[in-house]
Amino acid sequence: MSLALAFRDVGKRFGETRVLEAFDLEVPSGEKLAIIGPSGSGKSTVLRIAMALEGIDTGRVELMGETLWEGTRRPPERELRRLRLQAGMVFQHFNLFPHMSVLENIWRAPVDVAGIGREEAETRARELLSRVGLAERAEAMPDQLSGGQKQRVAIARALAMRPPVMLFDEVTSALDPEMVGEVLGVLRDLADQGGITMLLVTHEMQFAAEIADRVVFMDGGRVVEDGPPSQVIGAPVEPRTRAFLASVLRGADVRAD
Ligand SMILES: Nc1ncnc2c1ncn2[C@@H]1O[C@H](COP(=O)(O)OP(=O)(O)OP(=O)(O)O)[C@@H](O)[C@H]1O
Ligand SMILES: [Mg+2]
Repeated sequence: MSLALAFRDVGKRFGETRVLEAFDLEVPSGEKLAIIGPSGSGKSTVLRIAMALEGIDTGRVELMGETLWEGTRRPPERELRRLRLQAGMVFQHFNLFPHMSVLENIWRAPVDVAGIGREEAETRARELLSRVGLAERAEAMPDQLSGGQKQRVAIARALAMRPPVMLFDEVTSALDPEMVGEVLGVLRDLADQGGITMLLVTHEMQFAAEIADRVVFMDGGRVVEDGPPSQVIGAPVEPRTRAFLASVLRGADVRAD
């Protein structure tokens, strides 16, 4: 089994705040992993470290079989740029380039960063746009799109670099409820196609249970419970997981009222 990502005994602090402590996580290639947990538990930090947007203090992080972080050692900038191509990330707030058309948002990085020819990059960008159901909006500007459409473009843009690992940080939580479904649908298609390793931080428990091979519940910068969705979401063993799920479900009930 080859690993796409491995965190080994990782410690990370921001000033006085310990954000990750003795954090261990192995993600096999091709796995769809959901990460759940309360606000402040360190979920985004895990993704940001994997994306090389953030370093660590102790321990080691490996991405696609290569060392990304080891203690406070920082790889040379060239090395970091190369390693960053192994992962793509989509954030809660779709930060599309506002002055570029939808299509250019998608082909720009493959041309500028990966050195792919403009024509080929555009062809691929159009393919990706149809995959996310937006073939007819290629020439639109980002501010002409709905939130759900922008987020689907952001997913296509990350996929355009063909990273083996994709990281999704609460990509539906800034959306109006009626747009959540279309974005989850794109993620579901992506998961169904297989091949790509996906880490999804999400508050959508039902969705996580449906598409994830495995669910990790984090609290206080550690993995508290780790197992198949049927366990971690369906029948959690750890009291802290149970308390978290109960509070999430109560939240859902309140919103439904
Ligand atoms: N750049 C930063 N500087 C200082 N503290 C930070 C920084 N980034 C995160 N933190 C702190 O680290 C802890 C973990 O943050 P993180 O964003 O990883 O949590 P999270 O699980 O993603 O939470 P949420 O569900 O609210 O997104 C929090 O206490 C947060 O305040
Ligand atoms: Mg977060």
